[in-house]
Amino acid sequence: MTNRLIWHKMTCITAEVAESKSTSIGVAIAGEGKELPPKVCPVPNGLFLGLRRICVELSSTDGVLPGQTDAFSLCCCTGIFCTLPTKEERMFTMKKTPFVTLEKAMEIKQQIPTPFHLYDEAGIRANAQALQAAFAWNKGFREYFAVKATPNPYILKILKEEGCGCDCASYTELLLAEAVGVTGHDVMFSSNVTPEKDMRKAYEMGAYINLDDATHVDFLERICGGKVPETVCLRYNPGGSFSLGNTIMDMPRDAKYGMTEDQMAGAINRLQKLGTKHFGIHAFLASNTTANEYYPELASQLFRLAVRLHNATGAHIAFINLSGGIGVDYRPEQPASNIALIGAGVRDRYQQILTPQGMDDVAIFTELGRFMLAPFGHLVATVLHQKHIYREYVGLDACAADLMRPAMYGAYHHITVLGKEDAILDHVYDVTGGLCENNDKFAIERSLPAIDVGDLVVIHDTGAHGYSMGYNYNGKLRSAEVLLKSDGSFQLIRRAETPRDYFATFDFTDFHFAE
Ligand SMILES: Cc1ncc(COP(=O)(O)O)c(C=O)c1O
Repeated sequence: MTNRLIWHKMTCITAEVAESKSTSIGVAIAGEGKELPPKVCPVPNGLFLGLRRICVELSSTDGVLPGQTDAFSLCCCTGIFCTLPTKEERMFTMKKTPFVTLEKAMEIKQQIPTPFHLYDEAGIRANAQALQAAFAWNKGFREYFAVKATPNPYILKILKEEGCGCDCASYTELLLAEAVGVTGHDVMFSSNVTPEKDMRKAYEMGAYINLDDATHVDFLERICGGKVPETVCLRYNPGGSFSLGNTIMDMPRDAKYGMTEDQMAGAINRLQKLGTKHFGIHAFLASNTTANEYYPELASQLFRLAVRLHNATGAHIAFINLSGGIGVDYRPEQPASNIALIGAGVRDRYQQILTPQGMDDVAIFTELGRFMLAPFGHLVATVLHQKHIYREYVGLDACAADLMRPAMYGAYHHITVLGKEDAILDHVYDVTGGLCENNDKFAIERSLPAIDVGDLVVIHDTGAHGYSMGYNYNGKLRSAEVLLKSDGSFQLIRRAETPRDYFATFDFTDFHFAE
């Protein structure tokens, strides 16, 4: 059965799946006497029976110019019943559902003033379990959570309970891991331009040390008084560009990280002479990608490299660290990463490349940050003011000091007005913070429901690289962090800064600050 709907440059349809079990559907595109080849559209987390959101993105290769799109229509293949969206339903499909209700947010706000970052314990745990399940085929699999994404001990403790270690990049992050009882090989130390103090701490904790450069072999030898660790990891930079099919994902040749293949072979030879017996290989070649092929493609490059390095040096490759980079669907119309597919893709490459070489004891490590936490964090803020000039502005009590990504990268973060989840998005606002910077905007010309002063808004997907990138410009004090626990209760897991915190680094001076 098929139904037709008008389609726009990027549109989402709600499909009632009747029988198929697949990860993608074919969507036929037709209109104005023109039939286009069917598009294969990925379905987030697989296509199971029931209502699913399916995103169809138009590109120039589809033979339709964006300006012409309104003339075209879509229909889905057999077995899938597409409902024709009304205006309200189109709004619905463009929305993300917050994990907190207005009532709960109000209850929290009575004790902890906005703005605050809120984390969803149940979501964090379920997602960590899905990752473990996706890589369960690999005996040594381990996720080392990238502490830089969400450096809060309560979050690290939850992830530790779910079997994750910590990936640390600095002395302070090492201290955080240690405070949670994560030490030894439960820590991966992936840093660059590493200070002596940081390297020494990682060595003393017995962490896996990931060397960013071949010259760091001598540096490490000096730090550890000639007694190098039994296992050392080396960070790889293949140079050139990293692409998936015809799409360039990133340019490793422009990146400051890692070493060349020849340098890696040299580092292995030297480390072997010093006493290292086992080696890890690490690379991070593309950031925030929801292309399910990223990890499998990266894995196949690293598996082939492992075989070549093993053949060239005789080294035992103990693990391959695929690092971070798996992205999240910040935009509601974006496909989400499908971790089950990603795990299966890496397994296929493992079996094709490593197993025939007798290298099937190689453990797979990841050091994901964004994928583990971003969707499970909200920045909750209150609307302080509205102003009406050449545009409509809504001003929040949160600002870029609480969430820097929109100001820094122009990153999209979805916004929901609590209590108005189902309202029509018939107003257009710039949603701003109060910094003396015009880029302090969480959203620019965003369609939202009518907003009133005092409304509570949720800025979505702030659980990773959110609070942690915060800063104190304009003397703005950093917000609190709150955990929404699996049983529905909540806990303050970091208090908001006070003026005393802001002035604390003047504690050696004669100045005294009123609070
Ligand atoms: C070395 C390293 N590992 C892991 C991560 C985590 O990346 P993501 O949060 O994109 O998964 C980063 C992010 O900057 C990184 O630099």
